Amino acid sequence: METTPALLPLLLFLSLCVCACHGNLRPTPRVYLSYKELLETRTIRPFSFSFNTSDYRILHMDQDQGRLYLGSREYLVSLDMQNINKEPLIIHWPATAQRKGECRMTGKGGQGECANFVRLIEPWNRTHLYTCGTGAYKPICTFINRGWKAEEYLFRLVPGYVDSGKGKCPYDPRQENAAALIHGNLYAGVHVDFMGTDPAIFRTLGDRPAVRTEQYDSRWLNEPVFVKIQKIPDSAEKNDDKLYFFFREKSLDAAGGSTPSVLARVGRVCLNDDGGQRSLVNKWTTFLKARLVCSVIGAEGVETYFDELRDVFIQRTHDERNPTVYAVFSTAGSVFKGSAVCVYSMADIRNVFNGPFSHKHGHNYQWTPYTGKIPYPRPGTCPGGTFTPGLHTTKAFSDEAINFVRAHPLMYHPIYPTHKRPLVVRTGVDYRFTTIAVDMVDAVDGRYEVLFLGTDRGTVQKVIVLPKDTSTTEELILEEVEVFRTQAPVKTLKMSSKRQQLYVSSERGLTQVSLHRCDVYGKACSDCCLARDPYCAWDGETCSAFTPATKRRSRRQDIKHGDPLRQCRGFNSKEKRLRETVQFGVEGSSTFLECQPRSPQATVKWLYQKDGKRKALSRDKEVLKTGHGILLKSLVHSDAGLYHCLATENNFKHTLARVSLRILDREIVEALTAPDGPVESERHHQHHHHRPPPPPPPHTPPPPLQQLPPQPEVRLINQYCQSYWQQQSPGQTHKPKRTNRRHTDQQEAQEELQDQ
Ligand SMILES: *[C@@H]1O[C@H](CO)[C@@H](O)[C@H](O)[C@H]1NC(C)=O
Ligand SMILES: *[C@@H]1O[C@H](CO)[C@@H](O)[C@H](O)[C@H]1NC(C)=O
Repeated sequence: METTPALLPLLLFLSLCVCACHGNLRPTPRVYLSYKELLETRTIRPFSFSFNTSDYRILHMDQDQGRLYLGSREYLVSLDMQNINKEPLIIHWPATAQRKGECRMTGKGGQGECANFVRLIEPWNRTHLYTCGTGAYKPICTFINRGWKAEEYLFRLVPGYVDSGKGKCPYDPRQENAAALIHGNLYAGVHVDFMGTDPAIFRTLGDRPAVRTEQYDSRWLNEPVFVKIQKIPDSAEKNDDKLYFFFREKSLDAAGGSTPSVLARVGRVCLNDDGGQRSLVNKWTTFLKARLVCSVIGAEGVETYFDELRDVFIQRTHDERNPTVYAVFSTAGSVFKGSAVCVYSMADIRNVFNGPFSHKHGHNYQWTPYTGKIPYPRPGTCPGGTFTPGLHTTKAFSDEAINFVRAHPLMYHPIYPTHKRPLVVRTGVDYRFTTIAVDMVDAVDGRYEVLFLGTDRGTVQKVIVLPKDTSTTEELILEEVEVFRTQAPVKTLKMSSKRQQLYVSSERGLTQVSLHRCDVYGKACSDCCLARDPYCAWDGETCSAFTPATKRRSRRQDIKHGDPLRQCRGFNSKEKRLRETVQFGVEGSSTFLECQPRSPQATVKWLYQKDGKRKALSRDKEVLKTGHGILLKSLVHSDAGLYHCLATENNFKHTLARVSLRILDREIVEALTAPDGPVESERHHQHHHHRPPPPPPPHTPPPPLQQLPPQPEVRLINQYCQSYWQQQSPGQTHKPKRTNRRHTDQQEAQEELQDQ
């Protein structure tokens, strides 16, 4: 983007505003790329096949076959994970015309809901996938044959086979669902009925009995929105395996006013729960839930809660029983937009499930910890597990135990995040996080967790959080990129660490985005180092992707400190010597000296040099500092001299611009550029009849024009320069070369691409 003269005053104004309100909770990305700029880096691929579809929310990665399965409105697509535009295999799976007609008869479908919205794609066996769709308000499921290997290019529905989707997939496409297929059983968090008022955690398919949560019991589920379902083993004993589900729901006490209206929850059941014998028949007998807290304490001790759970990412560790749980929250309500990322350990989650049950007690009906006798087996323990080796099925549980769990599904203590505070917080910004994926990246100086956060404005932020000292952390937004042509909230975000790709979808489309684009940070070692991107290192020539496997001695990387002085010793001096540019100003008028650092995190200082001595610019009364440079007002002859623009980022100083300012005599300029200029000059230089006006000193390059504010003086000097150039090279139309050019990372990256 060039700064055109007309825009300049606006930009000056904007940059002043931005500087004034820069706060800690709203850090700026070091690099921001618009969709167009991102395309030019050639590190993304928007899915470019167009067919009549929408709602691209279902993405399932098959790492073994290297395929990404996409489920959208009436379509199932199998994509190559390496290149989603390479020969996609497409299945059209509409609801039948008859079904659509019936759907419309019921009065549904005002906004096109009478269609088959795909809501689940799960692997069934080595050759088949199981899929479900809303089926125009009558959910249906079926198998897809995708063959043994990707090379078979097989992707088709099993002909003639349709299952009921009840308890697997919602009727209403606007309702969220979550599902996981485990050992042939489908576990789904779903609204079970046509009206969408009966939510449940449902088990169907496979050899185990169908089991669900208690129906219409708000103590179990109260208008829940399901986010994620995941099996996590509890011990080496298979019988202890549990299913954890993450959701948000309406608070039971919302009427009270002091408690939030929405709460984030984690719930769990045993995989081998077959329901009760006399009561809770075909209902979970091991169902428990707890509150997930994600909050910050403000300056006055006021706690701000982030309760709207949006997405959960479960990061495996070497111990499959103890993955790390990352969750994205936003504030409930519309008054104040805020988001946070909190991290939970399985140890903390289990502790809360092992702790007291919540109990309504006393005449004012308060929640208290249950202190009475707890039946055996302790509610929440699995049959045949470590603590109940003698009980082989939940049908053998005592009535006491069953009745207790029915009335006490909630744990008393909430689960706090690691360090009791969020990892990332955003407040006072006009966007929210919607999705999360986390990559663990090995860099030269250690292992880093890199967060990819999708937003409701169609961007993905790449964030790292570094420990600053023992109790505080420093958050860095390495980049924010616009991933869709048409702006829409990010709905689903999947990451393949192996292929170094993200797959990001919205209501309107799907885009494949590389995890890194190192050359965007700039060519110099210092730029690469200051970027502090664990994926990138300076290899002696450029900033390029770093993989520990191809480690070379010359690789320079310093995520922890981002200190180019140490990392780039010996290379800094080799960086392109900054050319001095010459700029003209007219006595009495103003001039703009441009200087914009690569990074919004850098601070800028101007030095003025005259007679070999440099000092801080002390022309305070008439200098306007902006994010793009400085405006010197009302120039006088003594302003002539050399101006240095110095940027400091993370204690690293470097010169960004060196401008030699020359001051033109106002009278002369006016004389030269008057409409009757030559006549004027005749008056002054009578012995030079019909000669061009005297040129400025011969070695000076053409003066810069574009960046000057639109003022009468500009026209003057413009005319002056044009006449000067026409006379210098007759017959040629000279476009004055920009000598004082503003470079951003993006521009440089684009130019590099164009040069190739
Ligand atoms: C696209 O699909 C929707 C829903 O199935 C249908 O109502 C609409 O007519 C289709 N549009 C076109 C152009 O085929
Ligand atoms: C996978 O399941 C499908 C559907 O039940 C079945 O037809 C197919 O034979 C199975 N494939 C294998 C390899 O078990």
